[in-house]
Amino acid sequence: MTRYSRIIGTGGYLPEEVRTNEHISHTVDTSDSWIFERTGIKSRRIAGAHETASSMAEIAARQAIAVSGCDPEEIDIIIVATGTPDRVYPSTGCLLQQRLGIKNCVAFDVQAACSGSIFALSIADQYIKSGAAKKVLIVGSEICSRIVDWTDRSTCILFGDGAGAVLLAVSEETGILSTHIHSDGEYEDLLYCPNPQAAAGADEQQAGYINMRGNEVFKVAVNTLGRIVEETLDANSMDRSEIDWLVPHQANIRIIAATAKKLKMSMDQVVVTLETQGNTSSASVLLAFNEAVRDGRIQRGQVVLLEAFGAGFTWGSALIKY
Ligand SMILES: CC(C)(COP(=O)(O)OP(=O)(O)OC[C@H]1O[C@@H](n2cnc3c(N)ncnc32)[C@H](O)[C@@H]1OP(=O)(O)O)[C@@H](O)C(=O)NCCC(=O)NCCS
Repeated sequence: MTRYSRIIGTGGYLPEEVRTNEHISHTVDTSDSWIFERTGIKSRRIAGAHETASSMAEIAARQAIAVSGCDPEEIDIIIVATGTPDRVYPSTGCLLQQRLGIKNCVAFDVQAACSGSIFALSIADQYIKSGAAKKVLIVGSEICSRIVDWTDRSTCILFGDGAGAVLLAVSEETGILSTHIHSDGEYEDLLYCPNPQAAAGADEQQAGYINMRGNEVFKVAVNTLGRIVEETLDANSMDRSEIDWLVPHQANIRIIAATAKKLKMSMDQVVVTLETQGNTSSASVLLAFNEAVRDGRIQRGQVVLLEAFGAGFTWGSALIKY
């Protein structure tokens, strides 16, 4: 039997507070029009003081499990993608396992910045295809607002908080067609977030905030995502016209539009959540996927290309027959 990983449930969670561009323009020198024109973002959600990556992950995960109708005890592996874990350890995966009350599974985190959920999908797919696992829960959960310097106008306008989840199950029916993940550690300086407690002799890196050379990141992201699209199509001997939906990482509308153009896709075939969510890092692709499944845009049998790019640099894609 050929084993595929099939998505049997999706979920998502966004915190209550909406922080608009207008709001940010009262604290740093920027404007709603500058932010919207350069990024496509109008507002983002901000987690409350009581919330953590694991608390948001729990809500998204419970939704995905409920949709699937399966018993949580059937889950073999929990993978949480996050760059903003509750604790250094235990992993947010273990904290989520505790919250869900699942005894017999293994749980761990994946840290690949904004590409985290694609890396998690790729790992899960290997376990399922090999027969080592039957059900894998994947959650991307991020509280970016706590690692953003709210006095830095070049980064604080971009990020938001939220969690997205998918539950994968082994199936004879087609599901994930292929995944492709990459990294290149040479680009540390363009996008990084220091860990002040662990950095050796960290003088200039005291604050644990996102540091980014946005313009340079932008150029590498556009080129790299163009290449991953080609790699994914080639690996599946597929023509771009066979893709029904593009579900991209939500970093900047201009990066998304460049990838859509490469695929000769109309923006109507691209799932965009950026305007009201900003960049939720590893949560963004799963949040967008969940939204488009729930509102009926993505239908069973359709071919969906997921892609992401993030610090590291890391990048990847997953081609799915939903
Ligand atoms: C951050 C980003 C929106 C900035 O847009 P940009 O067009 O590249 O702008 P630049 O960084 O070249 O800055 C242009 C000018 O705008 C200014 N600027 C930066 N942020 C601003 C803001 N929020 N409001 C007003 N002006 C701003 C800069 O200071 C600069 O001014 P100067 O020309 O006087 O020096 C864009 O580079 C981007 O989205 N990059 C990718 C980021 C990303 O995706 N990161 C996550 C990857 S997962």
